[in-house]
Amino acid sequence: MHVLAWQTLPAPREHQAATFDFVHLYATTTKRQLELLESGFAIRFEGRIYVYRNQCPHAGSPLDWQPGQFFDEEGLHLVCHTHGARFHPATGEYLSGPSCPHGLMRLPFALDGELLRVPARLAGIQ
Ligand code: FES
Repeated sequence: MHVLAWQTLPAPREHQAATFDFVHLYATTTKRQLELLESGFAIRFEGRIYVYRNQCPHAGSPLDWQPGQFFDEEGLHLVCHTHGARFHPATGEYLSGPSCPHGLMRLPFALDGELLRVPARLAGIQ
């Protein structure tokens, strides 16, 4: 994964999320390069920031059917609101729900005070 450009957004508060769009440069099998608009989200959980691609590994839906809503009611897990898969906020690990082949994909970020740098253009996602 290679970040080609960054963007800045305010870091989310505890159990809150900040969403963002990024361009994914995707190389096809015919060696053409496509640009796909995707989304990501940043959360703060137990005081630390985590950033993930907003794509559920079950069926590829965004996790938040209500924009920006990722946590369950207890604030313990991230929930895909399409079919209910649950993930650990700190690792993205798949925990329960419809079978997922893997957990959430982490995205690179940098925290500078209360400002968060996240990808604006990204290449090399599998
Ligand atoms: S798409 Fe997320 S649980 Fe089905």
